[in-house]
Amino acid sequence: MDKLEKICSVIDKSQKIVILTGAGISTSCGIPDFRGPTGIYNYVGKKYNLPYPEAVFDIDYFYQKPQPFFDFSKELFINKPQPSFAHKYIAALENKANKLNMLVTQNIDMLHELAGNKKMIACHGTYHTAHCTKCGKKYMLNQYEAKLKNGEIINCECGSIVKPDIVFFGESLPASFIDFLDNPTPTDLVMTIGTSLTVQPACLLPIAVKRKYDIPMILINKDSTPYDKAFDYIINDDIDETFKRINEQLKLI
Ligand code: OAD
Repeated sequence: MDKLEKICSVIDKSQKIVILTGAGISTSCGIPDFRGPTGIYNYVGKKYNLPYPEAVFDIDYFYQKPQPFFDFSKELFINKPQPSFAHKYIAALENKANKLNMLVTQNIDMLHELAGNKKMIACHGTYHTAHCTKCGKKYMLNQYEAKLKNGEIINCECGSIVKPDIVFFGESLPASFIDFLDNPTPTDLVMTIGTSLTVQPACLLPIAVKRKYDIPMILINKDSTPYDKAFDYIINDDIDETFKRINEQLKLI
């Protein structure tokens, strides 16, 4: 059996898969990743005149200068990105094969929801909702989507700035993620897809689940990660191509 056949056999036998995804799953949808050679952190600093690239998601910087975050958000949504083959495959693992325990995504592009996943935690938050930074009033995406797509700062009726519920550096991750990290529900396989595994605490999830249930771990990512040694199966190749090859064997979609 070659490596891909083994991976297919592990997926086939599993019934409760935990999947962690990162920006690499959306690069084929036209959204750059963060730390790759053409990644967002390579150009965003210069483009928006930031003191350092990650300032685009720094909560203190946002309070001083919110415009770069709204410029970034406009870029994210302007081309109406659509789910990739891999997004669709993961949706089928939930909706067709009933094999998904939990999908945890670090991505804020909402493509997993668009593909049809529901059992999921967006651990770095979402644009679906937003809150006023002063009075706390909650807004739904349809109330501010037009402004977001124009790169405009969103203002609350109280006059302060409304911030989409994206988790910035310096903010807490959703309680649902922290609870799952502390106490993952029974799982028989962990798949980690398209992430450099460099941002805590999200990068700790695969190990936390493996530690609790002593199960196989698969990594699909072009580049190596600091946690490679912990994985049982690693495919350093394109994500969509890999899922197409998996699908040729398992014929899920
Ligand atoms: P990174 O940019 O750090 O890592 C993306 C990984 O995907 C890299 O290791 C690439 O090798 C890999 N990759 C890219 N395209 C690929 C492809 N087509 N096939 C296979 N692999 C591919 O992105 P994340 O790990 O997701 O925070 O970054 C974590 C967090 O850092 C993000 O959630 C973001 C950022 O600060 C927020 O958005 C709030």
